[in-house]
Amino acid sequence: MERARSDALVVGAGIAGLIAALKLQPAKVTVLCKTRLGKGSATDWAQGGIAAAMGADDSPRLHAIDTQRAGAGISDSKIVEILTQDAPARVEELLELGAAFDRTDAGELALGREAAHQRRRIVKAGGDATGHEILKTLIEAVSTHPSIEIVENVTAEDLIVDDNRAGGVVARENATGERIELRARATILATGGMGRLYRFTTNPVEATADGIAMAARAGALLADMEFVQFHPTALAIGRDPMPLVTEAVRGEGAILVNDLGERFMTAIHPDAELAPRDVVARAIFEQQQRGRTVGLDARSAIGARFPQAFPTVFRFCIDAGIDPRVQNIPVAPAAHYHMGGVAVDEWGRTTLENLWACGETSATGVHGANRLASNSLLEAMVYGSRVATDVANVAPWKPSGHVPPVRTRLVAPARTGAAQAQAINDLRNVMYANVGLVRNAIGLREALARIVELEAADGEEGPLRNLLVAGRLIAEAALARHESRGSHYRSDYPEADEALAKRSFSRLRSVA
Ligand code: SIN
Repeated sequence: MERARSDALVVGAGIAGLIAALKLQPAKVTVLCKTRLGKGSATDWAQGGIAAAMGADDSPRLHAIDTQRAGAGISDSKIVEILTQDAPARVEELLELGAAFDRTDAGELALGREAAHQRRRIVKAGGDATGHEILKTLIEAVSTHPSIEIVENVTAEDLIVDDNRAGGVVARENATGERIELRARATILATGGMGRLYRFTTNPVEATADGIAMAARAGALLADMEFVQFHPTALAIGRDPMPLVTEAVRGEGAILVNDLGERFMTAIHPDAELAPRDVVARAIFEQQQRGRTVGLDARSAIGARFPQAFPTVFRFCIDAGIDPRVQNIPVAPAAHYHMGGVAVDEWGRTTLENLWACGETSATGVHGANRLASNSLLEAMVYGSRVATDVANVAPWKPSGHVPPVRTRLVAPARTGAAQAQAINDLRNVMYANVGLVRNAIGLREALARIVELEAADGEEGPLRNLLVAGRLIAEAALARHESRGSHYRSDYPEADEALAKRSFSRLRSVA
């Protein structure tokens, strides 16, 4: 079934997609949402906030320095400058839309501190519910624009591509399995990340690398695929996905201890618990490899203030029978964010004509080998806006006279049930064990071999299809990078190699 065409089709309804849709007004925009609007998006779960140089002692320059330092030498400095310069304006815009960010008693924005930031610059809401507040604000804003159509509970499966030009997507109604073609002059991928690829993740189950996989199958260039960020402190209570314990808890002084009561971060990095995320995550992983468990001790740093300061984390803890005012919080590293994605230029353009990408789906180059905390909501806002500007400038606002034929392979309704669940389970285990925090050539080759087996046995259907594409691209890029840098740590190449201090680019070898 073909639906009415739009000027622009936004695939994904998190912060990046909704900002793009809003900024495209008054164009006719369709926003495709895999779930009900407001659900299934990592934005909704984001605790930390938005990094922006809003404080009197801060500047975009300092923010840029921190971003680049975290990026471990390969962030694109031009993009870092765009991001950090633009940050305060994007925060102001959200305030104008009505976002209720936390304020001090004097009425100033209450800026939080997170690891590897040399200033307090995290704009937050409800203590640790920033993403939820932003999403609520954006949903209210889009609902006032009749030219934005939200299509819910429909999953995009493939790009419609003709002669290297994107013309929309082929999608499927979740409930009925009915196939739908959504055509548009401009297609914007904003589908979020790929956390579901890993056994332990903080991402929603919907984070199945859809945008990356669709773009890769259509022949688009990918970048920085090997760089997967693990958050050091996911709540280790046996839940999947794992609830996050925001880095701001460490920003307020909480310390990490093992089950022998040893504080181990002081021996590893001068910034101890506020060292870059990859350093802290690997240190906890190392403790686990030695058979230790790790807890976050917030008793003296936060204590009785915990429920007010971090209501979301407090609720997660209390529901699990842990009182962080008087007990350590059990934590473990979990896949949290992908620095890699669809390669885009400074306006979010991909290598396919009429196809843009923004948010976690894209790789702008800003994060380098390791994203600075709270730069992801920021990047989604900055690039959601830039993509909208570019689409408005580039794409002519008239329906295309020529509708390209659908070249996408038609597939039968997704194979579901135990076989697919088992294959996804296998893939998640092998990715966490072999393509996770510590990698080496033997493990990476094993992972690739397992991916090939899974592709042969069960490819081409449902979420597994996209996860396999992303898994393969990440493992291949990790195998090709013979060094350790940022989030990419190779036990067989434990040092950084200055000759390799550059971004990586790749394509899917067997493009459908
Ligand atoms: C956090 O709150 O620790 C997460 C923030 C982020 O991932 O940027």
